[in-house]
Amino acid sequence: MSTTKKPCILVTGGAGYIGSHTVRQLTAAGYEVIVLDNLINGHRDVVEQVLKVPLIIGDMADKNLLEEIFKDYSISAVIHFAAYAYVGESVKSPAKYYRNNVAGTLTLLEAMATAGVNQFVFSSTCATYGIPDSFPITENSPQVPINPYGASKKMVERLLTDISQASALKYVCFRYFNAAGAHPDQDLGEDHDPEPHLIPSVIYAALGKRKAISIFGSDYPTRDGTCIRDYIHVVDLAQAHVLGLEYLLNGGDSQIFNLGNGQGFSVQEVIDIAKEVTRREITVEKGDRRPGDPAILVSSSEKAQKVLGWQPQYPDLKTIMTHAWQWHLKRHGSI
Ligand SMILES: NC(=O)c1ccc[n+]([C@@H]2O[C@H](COP(=O)([O-])OP(=O)(O)OC[C@H]3O[C@@H](n4cnc5c(N)ncnc54)[C@H](O)[C@@H]3O)[C@@H](O)[C@H]2O)c1
Repeated sequence: MSTTKKPCILVTGGAGYIGSHTVRQLTAAGYEVIVLDNLINGHRDVVEQVLKVPLIIGDMADKNLLEEIFKDYSISAVIHFAAYAYVGESVKSPAKYYRNNVAGTLTLLEAMATAGVNQFVFSSTCATYGIPDSFPITENSPQVPINPYGASKKMVERLLTDISQASALKYVCFRYFNAAGAHPDQDLGEDHDPEPHLIPSVIYAALGKRKAISIFGSDYPTRDGTCIRDYIHVVDLAQAHVLGLEYLLNGGDSQIFNLGNGQGFSVQEVIDIAKEVTRREITVEKGDRRPGDPAILVSSSEKAQKVLGWQPQYPDLKTIMTHAWQWHLKRHGSI
């Protein structure tokens, strides 16, 4: 058996949804992991009782804390999930999004540069593409975000381009489509309050934890009038992060990758699959469009498959829904 010690990775936002699944994959692959999270939307119990890795409770914008972390631990790379990530909220409170997502990330990048940590994996988003004019969306599609959340992530991408050109920084930037599902072991899942995402919200409606599921807009130019999105299993996303990290640790150059399944499902189709999986009544309410929601977002992730050898393990939406449902039943009780 090899006794080579794997590098230590700092995961910001590791107490959150995608971060916690990635920490699980990293520790399974033998990495030492430290989580930094201010717990504004994260879960202490998940890091301490499920993931069992050190949790530093604090803010990525705290320069002194970052200095201490880089002094205390021998960190080789940072995987950066910490952000605010709700489109609707970003439209109402843009400054909050620019301060946390952009200014906070800049502080982190500066602290990394001071500490000589030069490898960075970043969570960007399909929201940077705005309203695409052709499908599937590739990494070269124009980026014209239509909401402050997407704009804040595009700004960080620009920071990464400029800083990496002027320094030793190398980065992998992942533009995810819609993360969904839960760990098949049923001990990690999506738990936001309030919950802005469709799949857990439909499940809450099926569980009777909310009265109904709202469809925001039924007059989009799509096959049934509701918005179409590309859903990707959170474990597949997490696995891509391990591959992206290893690509950088092996000397890879900076790269941007889409992560999705390349298949679009409408809101109505997601609700229909939820009814089939949960076998519960789900009340649907039809509402107005939300500002900042494009009609269709469907990816091409061929580049990640070719360059990183990434292969989604759970591309089927029914499986994604089933894993989410099983986790919610366990977390919230089978009402
Ligand atoms: N969920 C999706 O479908 C999706 C899609 C595209 C991109 N993303 C991006 O992926 C990342 C993770 O998303 P998620 O769904 O897991 O969100 P999440 O809210 O569950 O996780 C984010 C974590 O970051 C922490 N955090 C926020 N600001 C912080 C700060 N200033 N300092 C320290 N910790 C802070 C929160 O407490 C939370 O635990 C985000 O950057 C998001 O923009 C998510």
